[in-house]
Formats: sequence, C-alpha cells, structure tokens
Amino acid sequence: MNPLLPEEASTFAGSVDALYLFLIAVTAFFSLLIGTLVVVFAIKFRRKSPDEIAQDVHESGLLEIVWTVIPFCLTLVMFFWGAKVFFQITRPPANAIEIYVTAKQWMWKLQHEDGHREMNELHVPIGQPVRLTMASEDVIHSFFVPAFRFKRDVVPGRFSTAWFEATKPGKYHLFCAEYCGTRHSNMIGWIYAMTPADYQAWLAGGTPGETLASAGAKRFVEQACNTCHGEQKGARGPSLTGLYGSTVRTQSGQTVVADETYIRESIVNPQAKLLEGYPPIMPTYQGLISEEGLLQLTAYIKSLSPAPAAPGSNAPAPAPAPERKSHTP
Ligand code: CUA
Repeated sequence: MNPLLPEEASTFAGSVDALYLFLIAVTAFFSLLIGTLVVVFAIKFRRKSPDEIAQDVHESGLLEIVWTVIPFCLTLVMFFWGAKVFFQITRPPANAIEIYVTAKQWMWKLQHEDGHREMNELHVPIGQPVRLTMASEDVIHSFFVPAFRFKRDVVPGRFSTAWFEATKPGKYHLFCAEYCGTRHSNMIGWIYAMTPADYQAWLAGGTPGETLASAGAKRFVEQACNTCHGEQKGARGPSLTGLYGSTVRTQSGQTVVADETYIRESIVNPQAKLLEGYPPIMPTYQGLISEEGLLQLTAYIKSLSPAPAAPGSNAPAPAPAPERKSHTP
C-alpha cells in the first residue's frame, strides 16, 4: 500500500494504482533523463572561447530509431494496459446488485432494488459487485469514491452506469467530483461497506419503501402506457415483457440491445429507434416525467425480463418471460 494514495478498498483499486504508478514511473524517468541531459549538454558543449566555430553534426540513424521505437513501445503498453483496466471497470458482472442513483443540486438519492432509500449514504455488501444506474435531475455531477478508485460522471439527459465491488468493510467518502454550483462542496456522503451478514441485517432492519419497479408499474398505468403496451392481441405498441436485454430490430434495419439507455431514449424520444413493424405514433415524454420517474419506469420494464439470480440479493426473481415473438402488424 502506498502512503500517498487513499486506502484500496475495491477489487479494481489495485489495478488502477498499478497503472497509475507505471505512468508516474515512466514520466519521472524521462523527466529526469531529459532534464539531466539538458544540463549536462549545456555545460559540456558550451562555447569555450569567443572565436570558437560550431562543427557540423550529422544525424545518427541508429539513435533516431532507438528514441522512436522505445517511446512507441512504452505508449503501446500504456494503451493496452489502460484499455484492459478500462474494460474491467466498465463491464459489470451479470450478478451485480442494482442501485439506482439520482443526483441533484446538491444531494445524492440512492435507492436499493427492494425499495430501501438512502440520502447521501449507501450501504453495500463486500465481496459482491454493485452496479449503479445514475441519472441527474439538473447539471453534470460526478460520483466519486476515492477508496474504490471509482469515478463516473452523471450527465443530465442520459443514464450513466458503472460498477464496483468493495473488498473491505468500512466507511468511505463519497464526493461529487464535478463543479455543480454553490454547494458543490457539500454534495458529499458516505459509502458503508459491510460484511454480507451485516448487510442482510441492515436490509432487514429498516422498512423498505415501495420498490422502484412497483413505483414504475404505477407510473406505467398513470401515464396510460398500458393502453398501447399491453399483452392483448392487436396492441398498438410492442409488448414490453422480455424486452430488457434482448436484441431488437429498428425501422432503419439497425439492431440494438434494449438496455437502460435504449429504454430511456424510447420514452423521451420514441421515434429515435422505432421498433420494426410499428407505426411512429408514440408521443414524446420529454419533460413530462422526472429523472426519478424514468428510473422507476426503466426498473419496471427491467422487472418484466428474467434476470440472473444475484447471490445475497433478497429480491424475488421475476418469473421468466415468454419467448419474444416478432410482431405481425
Ligand atoms: Cu454535484 Cu458537484
């Protein structure tokens, strides 16, 4: 452990630090080498008498190849190593616990799948991946947990997803790492990493509110989504059962994976990736549903698709969805 860095408390903290140290070592080595050579050469090749005449120097092919190939190889190492860590950080494992985050000036609202809500605090178990789906109600915020080497911008108008897995029980700082107005510096909180047993006890302790998915189900009816997206024959819109995670074909012949981002876009801008075989009749819900509402609807639509059972999660697994049939208009 490095005394200059924050504690390492997530599975990828070690790989981020190793890469960071490599970058610092390479930078320090070349800064010292170049700085030293500048001083040494300035002394060694200085003009020693006023009538000294400069000599012609011709380039050395070998020297040029060496100082091109070595930095090239070093930057390639940085690229592939960086890409490896990047992919590790951006691809959540399938068994991750889902947490929904809404950022607004100047607080973090966090919601567990079973309906537990927290404000500027998040309780998570150790040894289990946690996936965050984040939305902003206003400006750009950034969810930053230094001990986890976790930082992800939360950008209005889209969902940001990211994940981490805590390794050590403890209490860790949560910061907003994007200047978001007057009280940006107060937009802070704590992440409590707990042993699975303590986490279960914590979950059992509070009275969970309504789950996101069931709030979404209510909203689905409130907004009359069910009049078109029903299971009945000849419904005007596609059935949403089994939609999440499936690959769909759009009007333009594109195939897209129906993830959170796709679902969100299809609510606020339904014409963007219209499903093949359906007329463009859905109105936009841009500005009519809050970011939290969009998260609820997304959670509801997700709950209509089977999910891999997450160990440690006490949410009941939804019933498996029937095969997705192609629609014949
Ligand atoms: Cu939110 Cu800074």
